[in-house]
Amino acid sequence: MAFKALAAFFSIAALQVANAAITRRVACPDGVNTATNAACCSLFAVRDDIQQNLFDGGECGEETHESLRLTFHDAIGIGSNGGGGADGSIIVFESIETNFHANIGVDEIVDAQKPFVAKHNITPGDFIQFAGAVGFSNCPGAPRLEFLFGRPPPIAAAPDLTVPEPFDTVDSILARFVDAGNFSPQEVVALLSSHSVAAADHVDPTIPGTPFDSTPFVFDSQFFVETQLRGTLFPGTGGNQGEVESPLQGEIRLQSDSELARDSRTACEWQSFVNNVPKMQIDFKAAMAKLAVLGQNVNNMVDCSDLIPEPPTFSGTATFPAGLNNGDIEQACATTPFPTLSTDPGPATSVAPVPGS
Ligand code: HEM
Repeated sequence: MAFKALAAFFSIAALQVANAAITRRVACPDGVNTATNAACCSLFAVRDDIQQNLFDGGECGEETHESLRLTFHDAIGIGSNGGGGADGSIIVFESIETNFHANIGVDEIVDAQKPFVAKHNITPGDFIQFAGAVGFSNCPGAPRLEFLFGRPPPIAAAPDLTVPEPFDTVDSILARFVDAGNFSPQEVVALLSSHSVAAADHVDPTIPGTPFDSTPFVFDSQFFVETQLRGTLFPGTGGNQGEVESPLQGEIRLQSDSELARDSRTACEWQSFVNNVPKMQIDFKAAMAKLAVLGQNVNNMVDCSDLIPEPPTFSGTATFPAGLNNGDIEQACATTPFPTLSTDPGPATSVAPVPGS
């Protein structure tokens, strides 16, 4: 009995020491902030600056969406044909990489981010991933992304054809993700949760800012619901490369998203996110953690995740847009029926574009 009590005492004491080690924070030289690691202190000023001056006071708006897209387009620049991954090459070698067809439109956010990289003592690789994570924290429902700090400057431009195109086949998309970082089909689907807070400017250039789902300012599962609905219209001109019909006025559907939602390798994973924001959060966070350090030696990096703000929560449930129901679903997962959802009241509505700023 006495031995048991003693053992319990020691295990509680050990737990307390471990907790103290986890929570101990250092005071930063700015006299205001504390961080888990002194190396992270310089990031407070970067965070406050971009929240105010890049993300318009902390919005989940266009610059946040574009910054999230940029984390991907920089990081995926790696594979059997070379490239340094999440190294900031898309900023340093902008004149080369932004001319690649798949990077159309990326020059805008590269140009918007460049002055912040120049102003703060930070490498472009770190900045891109940090800005992506901070901006994304402005989206209700988002998970708080991990941020590891310490990417050296890039050595060379990434080669062309590392960024998947919306007109690529599922075979080629899945193969590209394996080549870049051994991502599974499930991880690819998880990464596409990003299209929940996203719009296209260049797929149909006549309708810039056209979102991929009806809620582009919230990280919810409407994207996974709406991409499974039968396509009935083109929101703009139609006939554009990489675009297929969408179910809603004002919403655009990528051919790649449509096919991934319907392919036997990915359809059940796609459907698993319907009305399951907690699963989106866990799986997206894990896949993003992998993406953000492609090509990097994590042993040389410091965990500064505590610098990423806690995102606002989201508590809504997924719905069918007004006028649509289960009969409009193109069921693709063979093993599990589509979840039962209610339909938004009222007549069919149109999705508003994401305003540019
Ligand atoms: C199969 C892979 C993917 C394809 C084919 C693809 C394709 C596209 C296309 C064509 C656009 C519209 C660009 C425009 O016209 O302005 C877009 C936007 C976007 N993508 Fe992807 N994407 C893929 C994966 C990803 C991943 C892994 C992420 C992030 C982790 C991501 C994040 C975004 C975001 C946030 C936007 C919206 C940008 C904005 O609103 O300005 N995408 N994507």
